[in-house]
Amino acid sequence: MSLLQKIDLEKSPEHVAIIMDGNGRWARNQGKERIFGHFNGVESVREAIRAARKSHVKYLTLYAFSTENWNRPKEEVDALMDLLVSTLISELGELKERGIQLRTIGDTENLPEKCRKQLKAVISETAENNELVLVLALNYSAKWELVEAVRSITNAGIPVQEITSATIEAHLSTASIPDPELLIRTSGEHRISNFLLWQIAYTEFHFTPVMWPEFKEEDFFQAILDYQTRERRFGKTSEQTLEELIK
Ligand code: FPP
Repeated sequence: MSLLQKIDLEKSPEHVAIIMDGNGRWARNQGKERIFGHFNGVESVREAIRAARKSHVKYLTLYAFSTENWNRPKEEVDALMDLLVSTLISELGELKERGIQLRTIGDTENLPEKCRKQLKAVISETAENNELVLVLALNYSAKWELVEAVRSITNAGIPVQEITSATIEAHLSTASIPDPELLIRTSGEHRISNFLLWQIAYTEFHFTPVMWPEFKEEDFFQAILDYQTRERRFGKTSEQTLEELIK
């Protein structure tokens, strides 16, 4: 029985978020430049998208570039921006064919012009698709997002006593995207790295030692199976959650 066959598709998470990590180390381990890892990471992005569709996941969020990533050497940042543009161009046909809608979260206004232009084109050409929503976190960090939300709430003149969780959610860049039920991080690191801090309040975590360029569909299925063994309690006791399940 394959891993996919073991998944209960009725109980797949609606939203999976991934911290793609280990490109640089994977390349260095082979005596190559870090960017070689990023190039190979694109194939793993394809694997994750295919696996998400097969396991009936509706939203897939990928942490592609953080606000802190600008601190990397200029050649690496430039190569990542070029890779984003070339991947968007080469994958557009496939995204359209497979019914995938592209969205972004993050400070995309401050990405290079060529990235903004290509993103705008792909977002508009895939806007009507509804098989899977692919969310790229670009120039994103959760602290940036929360500061932006506070600014936007203040600018809207919303009275302090009227501010609720829902107000904050509506002003995050993930407004209208459900919170992820599952977060995967590759490369054996166990950190959140400023990713979706608000949205992961009740998210299950799956950490795998696999380096991102080696991440395959099977690794995605393994993460879903791991998730399906978890008991999600949202702060309730296990007796309360059991009662709700048999209701
Ligand atoms: C983390 O590995 C990876 C990134 C910061 C970039 C992710 C980019 C891609 C997978 C390719 C392009 C993606 C798209 C969507 C076109 P790292 O460099 O932090 O690895 P390390 O921890 O080993 O240094």
